[in-house]
Amino acid sequence: MDIRKYEIWEEEEIWKIYYHTTHRINVRNYTERQLERWAPHDMDMRKWRERIGKSNPFVAVADGILVGFAELEPNGHIDYFYCHHEWQGKGVGTAIYRELEKEALRNGIRRLFAEVSMTAKEFFLKMGFVITEERSRIICDAPAKNFMMEKMLPLGYSDLE
Ligand SMILES: CC(C)(COP(=O)(O)OP(=O)(O)OC[C@H]1O[C@@H](n2cnc3c(N)ncnc32)[C@H](O)[C@@H]1OP(=O)(O)O)[C@@H](O)C(=O)NCCC(=O)NCCS
Repeated sequence: MDIRKYEIWEEEEIWKIYYHTTHRINVRNYTERQLERWAPHDMDMRKWRERIGKSNPFVAVADGILVGFAELEPNGHIDYFYCHHEWQGKGVGTAIYRELEKEALRNGIRRLFAEVSMTAKEFFLKMGFVITEERSRIICDAPAKNFMMEKMLPLGYSDLE
């Protein structure tokens, strides 16, 4: 599996991963209305391309297809982190996370943090994150729980090497 920065023609493939994983995997923990708000079926692709152009995500490529992506912001915030719905539990997330942590270490980032879905909580715990806060907001008339999670990185060292 290859982990690299995205190429400018890949925005729509990245959207497909985000859309299908949200609707097929996160549906375990959230309502259809909530999922439609986060990943609308009529998403404005111009806005999405703009977003991806700015966030410059890492992508995972296996057998020649995109199987996951993740965004790391300069302040250590991990925003979107999604694996293809047919490639769940096959090590794609771990491979992307390792690269993302290496990038953080290269850039002197000391703290990684994310607002993590119920669906991804166990994965982030496995990657060495701790929960700093549990939140529940009402979104589209139903509670939507998530977790503030963080991982401190000692400078120049990775426990994932
Ligand atoms: C979270 C996510 C990115 C993990 O990617 P993945 O490729 O499935 O993860 P991996 O296969 O690398 O799994 C790594 C470890 O985490 C564990 N893990 C992953 N998801 C898990 C789950 N839902 N429950 C329990 N353990 C889980 C795996 O069992 C594995 O443990 P092991 O090394 O002991 O076998 C993926 O499940 C996903 O796309 N989730 C939906 C989108 C989402 O919620 N994203 C986060 C938004 S904050």
